[in-house]
Amino acid sequence: MNLSGKVAIVTGGNSGIGLSIVLELAKQGANIVIDYVAHPEATDDLVKQVIALGDQAIGVKADVSKVDDLKLLIAAAVEKFGRVDVMVNNAGVETRTSVLDTTEAQYEKVLAINLKSAFFGTQLAAQQMIKQGGGGRIINITSVHEDWPMPGNTAYCLSKGGMRMLTRTAGVELAPHNILVVGVGPGAVATPINLSTMNDPVLLGKLNAAIPMGRMAKPEEIGSVVAFLAGPGAAYITATTIFADGGIMQSSPGL
Ligand code: BGC
Repeated sequence: MNLSGKVAIVTGGNSGIGLSIVLELAKQGANIVIDYVAHPEATDDLVKQVIALGDQAIGVKADVSKVDDLKLLIAAAVEKFGRVDVMVNNAGVETRTSVLDTTEAQYEKVLAINLKSAFFGTQLAAQQMIKQGGGGRIINITSVHEDWPMPGNTAYCLSKGGMRMLTRTAGVELAPHNILVVGVGPGAVATPINLSTMNDPVLLGKLNAAIPMGRMAKPEEIGSVVAFLAGPGAAYITATTIFADGGIMQSSPGL
């Protein structure tokens, strides 16, 4: 297994893409710290699934939009497992509001959960990786919308665009420490963030028609990309984004 003995933190790890990332990393032998803000029972269940795969896991309740909580999260990983090898900045939300009527509260929420958490998650994980030595991997879950406009989702696009430059700039800064910073850019994935689309047959039909592969991604099809990027096969990839979008970015505007 590619990640035996490695320790990974996954923010927003108990649902959606995060949950699949946890399982795909665990399948490769990693021990996992699962960050969550709600649904402790889902976290407990996931911890059991990781243990069933032969690895160790703990759930840590931390609101990663707050730097103090992020510090607690890193400290919990170090206390339990002694180190952090892989930091996955995955937590994310969207409001689906136009630039014309997004409120200050919506703007601040999206930017704090998506971008601020990734910035300070990167900073704090990198500090720990430098302290322990031997490099590390920081993986930012962005979106095709780090680069591609999605009308009606402006704050979200802004946050993902910020993560794009965080990945590139921090990747360059941290490369001398052998800390690789990579973005993963999914397209439309069948997760709770997209439930309203998935529950609307007309919208879902439009979305599937816009995707060259004709369907949304399964969450594990994103988790497996993260597991690859955390492993030895990705030792020379940094400061860039790997897209896993079924080709949608090359076709039409975001739906
Ligand atoms: C967004 C989805 C959107 C998809 C494709 C994702 O980043 O979260 O709402 O459907 O991109 O446009």
